[in-house]
Amino acid sequence: MAAPGLPRPCRCEGVVTGNEPLGPGLLRLSVRLPLEPGFVPGQFAMLNLPAGRAWTFGRPLSILDWLAGEVSFLYRVVGRGTGELAGLKPGAAVTFLGPLGTPFPLDLGGRKAVLVAGGVGLPPLFAWRKQRPQDVAAAYFGARDQEDAPWPLLDSGWRVGLEDLGPSARGGARQGLVTDLLEEDFPADGTRDDCTVLACGPWPMLEAVHRQARRRGWPCWLSLEEHMGCGYGACKGCVVPVADGPDAWRPATCCQDGPVFDAAHLAWPQLERT
Ligand SMILES: Cc1cc2nc3c(=O)[nH]c(=O)nc-3n(C[C@H](O)[C@H](O)[C@H](O)COP(=O)(O)OP(=O)(O)OC[C@H]3O[C@@H](n4cnc5c(N)ncnc54)[C@H](O)[C@@H]3O)c2cc1C
Ligand code: FES
Repeated sequence: MAAPGLPRPCRCEGVVTGNEPLGPGLLRLSVRLPLEPGFVPGQFAMLNLPAGRAWTFGRPLSILDWLAGEVSFLYRVVGRGTGELAGLKPGAAVTFLGPLGTPFPLDLGGRKAVLVAGGVGLPPLFAWRKQRPQDVAAAYFGARDQEDAPWPLLDSGWRVGLEDLGPSARGGARQGLVTDLLEEDFPADGTRDDCTVLACGPWPMLEAVHRQARRRGWPCWLSLEEHMGCGYGACKGCVVPVADGPDAWRPATCCQDGPVFDAAHLAWPQLERT
């Protein structure tokens, strides 16, 4: 079931049209589908191999782009599922369930977006910037080093921070964390109070970005990447604690209530303990 205003998810078989390496263990997968319900940035799909070779649960990947019947993903090989995805050649079949989940807001009520992406957290923010270029105040991408960055996706509109810059500063990249770049561009002196942060990436980055947003009085939306089973609210394997009154919290599902959450609604004491 899709939430009101969101595209209705479909389950179908697709055909791989491309699976190109963008760096060591970093690939862009393109899949042709028979249906195109569309997506809102921040939504994801559960990908699986076809019947007979299917894993018990699909693997969640954020939608990077969806154009003329072809949906694409950016992913890092970390284990069995992504390893098997990396072995798929053009013409191979995959099963697709999506688009799923609660996305980033597209209407920021006149505020400008500060996009912060870490590693394979790029897809939702790449898609947001593509759909709403006029509403972006700044876009940051951070990674460990040059090899960790999907350069073909990073045009000059992205400010790139690398923890280890190495000998050459490719694409104008800077040594440092994305949060250092944000601090530099938007000092917390109250001069820019008209922004909203949208972020996806590793947990320490999300925590740091959230603190920066709070200091500036900016709304902040975070995409969380919990481990998932079903992907659509049935297994309760992806619980995220959300605030439910001043000192109380309740479990929400990352796959349906998220993956994008208003940071103000998260139960931070419980999240920081996990
Ligand atoms: C909503 C959502 C969107 C995502 N989007 C992307 C994306 O666009 N690109 C991408 O590369 N990855 C994305 N991920 C993470 C991706 O789903 C996992 O890396 C993948 O499922 C791992 O499967 P595996 O079988 O290869 O690894 P496994 O063998 O299952 O695990 C290998 C390692 O990866 C870790 N891992 C597994 N699942 C996750 C997870 N959900 N988050 C963090 N670590 C995990 C495990 O703890 C283990 O250390 C997303 C996850 C979620 C929940
Ligand atoms: S993954 Fe099953 S409820 Fe979220």
